[in-house]
Amino acid sequence: MKYKTTEILNMLHQEHIASYMKTLSEADRIAMMKQIDDLDFSVLSAGETNEERGVFAPLFATTLSEIQEQCSKFTDIGLQAIRDGKVGAVLLAGGQGSRLGFDHPKGMFNIGVERELYIFECLINNLLEVTRQADAWIPLFIMTSVYNNKETQEFFEQHNYFGYSSENVWFFIQEQLPTVDTDGKLMLSGNGTISTAPNGNGGWYASMAKTGMLKIVQEAKIEWLNVFAVDNVLQRIADPCFIGAVIVSGKVSGAKVVAKAAPEEKVGVLCLEDGRPSIVEYYEMTDEMLHSREEDGTLSYNYGVILNYLFRVDKLNKTLSVKLPLHRAFKKIKYMNANNEIITPEEPNAYKFETLVLDMIKLQDDCLAYEVDRNKEFAPVKNKIGVDSVDTARALLRLNGVEL
Ligand code: UTP
Repeated sequence: MKYKTTEILNMLHQEHIASYMKTLSEADRIAMMKQIDDLDFSVLSAGETNEERGVFAPLFATTLSEIQEQCSKFTDIGLQAIRDGKVGAVLLAGGQGSRLGFDHPKGMFNIGVERELYIFECLINNLLEVTRQADAWIPLFIMTSVYNNKETQEFFEQHNYFGYSSENVWFFIQEQLPTVDTDGKLMLSGNGTISTAPNGNGGWYASMAKTGMLKIVQEAKIEWLNVFAVDNVLQRIADPCFIGAVIVSGKVSGAKVVAKAAPEEKVGVLCLEDGRPSIVEYYEMTDEMLHSREEDGTLSYNYGVILNYLFRVDKLNKTLSVKLPLHRAFKKIKYMNANNEIITPEEPNAYKFETLVLDMIKLQDDCLAYEVDRNKEFAPVKNKIGVDSVDTARALLRLNGVEL
């Protein structure tokens, strides 16, 4: 039996939406019914974090010195995989970057001082170093959201893809999930639509499948995908040494990690959970876990993830049928109130729901933790000021010889 839209809304205790729909023109009502049909309302029953955690154990990394010893062998293997067309890169750029407070896609932020140097440009420059070394293009898939897709694409076009080959770049749009207020009610966004927000970075592979990107991956016989965040301006992308190390290890995934600066550092740590690779958040760790040390003095839970992962495509396909846990985040979300006025809140007012790429690690049989030097590869631009900010990223770029 098919329920009417109003019946669905009543069952979900969202009668205010049904009342609002009555005020719409027929065309707008039909459009809203279509939106409701397409939306995933499972968020309405999602709690803070509904996930039970298992038993944690340390997972040790291939350390900088171990990598150094075998670097030329790993690099040769990685470069060969790139030349054979087996490696693709996926840039996660669908986030809203609310902490930075920049009113455009984060990649459009100019991190330069004396000259223009955009975040997207930094990333492409880093990738170009590898494509030059390999003498082969690396297919680049860029995930955007409905909000920033057009601006992102236009920006790349205006800047001639910063020297990258446009034929090897594909943009795709991630999905949206409804937002809810503190009473668990759906919100209106003002133009006859229910308010939604991008569904988190964990949806990247499912969105690639839905938007036809996987067909491209399959036709090109890409075997590995390197997924990375938009905001780390120093990271090496499709890093041949990393790719080679994962291939040699025989593992099905890899994660770039940095040694923690201090036991209490607020970073997710790669570890084992019930024998499988997993990421434990800093707030989930007991005091004992935070301070436990190995015989050589290093922290047992020492390796923080930096959102740069390598996944084997055939293993990812198996995860497509698995529903990742939903995490809710309290954010400032613009909405339309009962008097049809648009409200732009100054403080967080509502929840958005996200799946996270780190939850995909748990679906992998194993994962190589690959240590990188944080001063050379970790300069995230998250905040306007303070920790992980524009200033700290600029200082690290300068330290690595990038002229600003
Ligand atoms: P963040 O966790 O920093 O989220 O994203 P954000 O939305 O960009 O920023 P804040 O929290 O509002 O300040 C980490 C990476 O995941 C991408 C981001 O673009 C960034 O590269 N991401 C995040 C998506 O691609 N989609 C999303 O829905 C969320």
